[in-house]
Amino acid sequence: MAARTAHRITGLHGRYAAPGDKSISHRALMLGGLAVGETRISGLLEGEDVLATARAMRQFGASVERDGDGAWTVRGVGVGGLRAPSDVVDLANAGTGVRLLMGVAATHPFTTVFTGDASLRRRPMERVMAPLRQMGARFTAAEGGRLPLTVEGARMPLPLRYEVPVPSAQVKSAVMLAGLNAPGRTIVVERQRTRDHTENMLRHFGATVSVEGAVISLDGQPELRGAALAVPGDPSSAAFPLVAALVTEGSEVTVTGISVNPLRAGLFETLAEMGASLDIANRRIEGGEPVADVTARSSSLRGVDVPPERAPSMIDEYPVLAVAAAFAEGRTVMRGLGELRVKESDRIAAMAAGLAANGVAVEELEDGLVVEGRPGDVAGGGTVETFMDHRIAMSFLVLGCASREPVTVDEDAMIATSFPGFAGLMAAAGARLEAAA
Ligand code: S3P
Repeated sequence: MAARTAHRITGLHGRYAAPGDKSISHRALMLGGLAVGETRISGLLEGEDVLATARAMRQFGASVERDGDGAWTVRGVGVGGLRAPSDVVDLANAGTGVRLLMGVAATHPFTTVFTGDASLRRRPMERVMAPLRQMGARFTAAEGGRLPLTVEGARMPLPLRYEVPVPSAQVKSAVMLAGLNAPGRTIVVERQRTRDHTENMLRHFGATVSVEGAVISLDGQPELRGAALAVPGDPSSAAFPLVAALVTEGSEVTVTGISVNPLRAGLFETLAEMGASLDIANRRIEGGEPVADVTARSSSLRGVDVPPERAPSMIDEYPVLAVAAAFAEGRTVMRGLGELRVKESDRIAAMAAGLAANGVAVEELEDGLVVEGRPGDVAGGGTVETFMDHRIAMSFLVLGCASREPVTVDEDAMIATSFPGFAGLMAAAGARLEAAA
């Protein structure tokens, strides 16, 4: 165990490049492996989750290498061309990795055994298995539809029209990736729109994907062609230093090259409503995604009601939003967050307990959190149980940058799953994150 303590500081400063987007990095490795020819990826996130997907794609027969200049090269085998892994495929902590690869494996005619770490083995997989069964795959899973599980891929894959019952880009993407190797058209209908990186990247590799409102159609069995790809910066990671700057006195931090895809940008919208001083500058398109440089300055925040329908566009950002809310004047209400209970941890419970341990008035709801903010008077002084969840750990280290007393998280190793450079960036900006005694 490596506990870490954040001490109060004033003045976070600097300009930093955002780490590569985790969602896009997983998809780049997978689609590169399913394309014919070479895919060169720059800016790939070298976090543990993505490295697990890289290992998995090698097990499926793609060549995945890191080049001397830090770019990655994938040599793909073509749609339907993967081979049976000779051993168990272990995705460690990567929910996106395993769920999307279950889709890929579902329409390849061989058997794959997937597993993951203790956190991933607790997460629900039935949501992915249900549509994939309809495409012809067979599953044997551990109790409750969990990992470890075996996928017997369909020999005669069927296309599917599927309405996703929970807002989930992972379920949508699993069905689309399975549909790649099915004849005919696979259609996914979303009740609430979720991140569209799979759709965008499939097009980038030459597939025909149409999106009409909530209806996404993919023409099956395309020939995907290897393509150059630049991964934009991850807004979900950039959120931590930016919120740290907002809540810490005398700060100004810029994070460059962040994806501002509207289906990922809900946090920025919410922070702006809270009165945050955020400049979104230098908007441009990189690698097919809108990106920008975002500057955050210390701000007097006020509590808001976050519209529940905004949840899919900021689903991973509620932990750090709850920290911002602790420093905002008045009450912040976050609802419609049932999905947070089945992330790397039960994030509603973990945030409620961690905030309470640091003197923040918080109410836990079945589907959300209510935080009573007290600007300038967040006690801190608590030790937070992270449940091995990277975003819980980073959120409370941000809280400790501005609370009266230091804040300790019981474990920080998992931060490397999504943001291996977090401690380095924060230290460079002026934060004091020290190994706990
Ligand atoms: C992701 C989708 C979201 C998100 C996760 C990444 C993706 O999960 O929480 O961090 O890359 O598709 P759900 O699909 O479970 O909502």
